[in-house]
Amino acid sequence: LEIYGAGLKGVLPRWPVDFASLEAAAAAALPDWILDYVAGGAGDERTQRGNAEAFGWWGIVPRMMNGAYERDLRTTICGVDLPTPLFCAPVGVIGICSQDFHGDLAVARACARTGVPMVMSTLTNDPMEDVAEALGDTPGFFQLYTPKDRDVAVSLIQRAEKAGFSGLVVTLDTWVTGWRPRDLNTANFPQLRGHVLANYFSDPAFRALLTESPEDDPRAAISLWSRLFGHSVGWDDLTWMREATDMPILLKGISHPDDARRAVDAGVDGLYCSNHGGRQANGGLPALETLPGVVEAAGDVPVLFDSGVRSGADVAKALALGATAVGLGRPYVYALALGGEDGVVHHLRSVLAEADLVMAVDGYPTLADLRAEGSIRRLPAA
Ligand code: FNR
Repeated sequence: LEIYGAGLKGVLPRWPVDFASLEAAAAAALPDWILDYVAGGAGDERTQRGNAEAFGWWGIVPRMMNGAYERDLRTTICGVDLPTPLFCAPVGVIGICSQDFHGDLAVARACARTGVPMVMSTLTNDPMEDVAEALGDTPGFFQLYTPKDRDVAVSLIQRAEKAGFSGLVVTLDTWVTGWRPRDLNTANFPQLRGHVLANYFSDPAFRALLTESPEDDPRAAISLWSRLFGHSVGWDDLTWMREATDMPILLKGISHPDDARRAVDAGVDGLYCSNHGGRQANGGLPALETLPGVVEAAGDVPVLFDSGVRSGADVAKALALGATAVGLGRPYVYALALGGEDGVVHHLRSVLAEADLVMAVDGYPTLADLRAEGSIRRLPAA
């Protein structure tokens, strides 16, 4: 209504409201090395494209005359009540998408203004305490790339808890970086590495491993960080993680129902179905194809989802397939690159407005209605 109303007075939205235009505008605005980092995926990016295309293989079945003029989009993740089922997925190094390099704070402030929770990456240009402060009362989750050194890992986790994050999201699929031609061809990593270390540089357990402080000898600190990066998390690790924190633990990267079942049996608090936006392994199934199996295996355990979500209609479809909450990745980063904090607010509100309208027009007043049997159907193969 806000946008239509302004349009009647000849005022157009400042940034695009659809993903294709947003991506094109960001591509024109960003330097190549940053665009390649954000937009790129593994291999020939077939899995990345499949993630978005898979949403076209499903359709919501409209219902009428059921009072959907008022909608309730509230949801709960591991005891955390949320006004809507949307969240910002963890995206590392987003500082570079912001002119002042403080993209993490800009996103946190945008989340605070919209009530959309942020899952903050381990790899930020701002320490997690500052991000938590910028989030205010809006929930944040801390995403962990588990370092090989246990003391550093525990320190990062406990700092997150102390800073007020509501949950720990342990990413499972990135203990080694995927085969990403756009990054490999342009060798942009040296430029990235200077921008990913605020959480490490500010960490007491990490600093204790250095002979010189990171400020005095950044090269040694960066080199230590790369040696520590990439512990391949196994089921045993859940024991010490559980001992390290009272925060709920969610596992990111679960795609197979057997892994989902095992995680539930191991007592994790939430699953996060994702293929990392197709950045880690090419040749895998589109993430949406794996969602129903994970949801079924999860039982009552909440299932977060991301990878390929490009619109409010996509959000509604993932919810109809059983997701508890749905994450945006690249789209909000493009919005950040174009419009900073205000750009992200505009984007999140646009996606939410579309999801809300889809529920209104298709006659699903609540998320429970949307998840009920028969709300979504798979299209016959062409
Ligand atoms: C990511 N993603 C990611 N995931 C994670 O757990 N920790 C991280 O630091 C990052 N970093 C990161 C950087 C960039 C540039 C991208 C695009 C993605 C993966 C992210 O959380 C999410 O799974 C995907 O972005 C979802 O796919 P779409 O929406 O980007 O297609």
